[in-house]
Amino acid sequence: MSEIALACDHAGFVLKEHIKSHLAKKGVPYEDFGTFNSDPVDYPDFAYKAADAVQKGNCKTGILVCGTGIGVAITANKLKGIRAALCFDRFSASCARRHNDANILTLGARVLEKRLALEIVDVFLETNFEGGRHLERIKKIAELEEKNFLGET
Ligand code: RB5
Repeated sequence: MSEIALACDHAGFVLKEHIKSHLAKKGVPYEDFGTFNSDPVDYPDFAYKAADAVQKGNCKTGILVCGTGIGVAITANKLKGIRAALCFDRFSASCARRHNDANILTLGARVLEKRLALEIVDVFLETNFEGGRHLERIKKIAELEEKNFLGET
């Protein structure tokens, strides 16, 4: 199993490459779901592929990058069981793991400078879920997913 599912759109491509180098230096295995250059693409196509790998358990965690981090977050959060968190600083990355058990981090390449983005990646990957009262809240999110389930056609 690859540890990290990576994906981006054209706006996130350069930052995703930096994240790949960073993970490689740390010896963290990843799978890259594209895009693979800066030609314009639609972020849902790539965010979906990585989120699907996390949902199916083929990857433990995802990191998705677009211009703002918003489009990939909205896309990933459509998948049942995915809790994608858009983080702009170390504190939100820590809370996303400790309180929300986020399984995908999303980043805005047009918002963050490289160094801060890599710090956020490190905090996100190194922080554990605290459980306890936070687990009860996560369960309520899962219940909402069940209520909204429209069924297979
Ligand atoms: C692409 O121009 C941009 O819209 C996209 O990267 C992202 O910011 C969408 O949320």
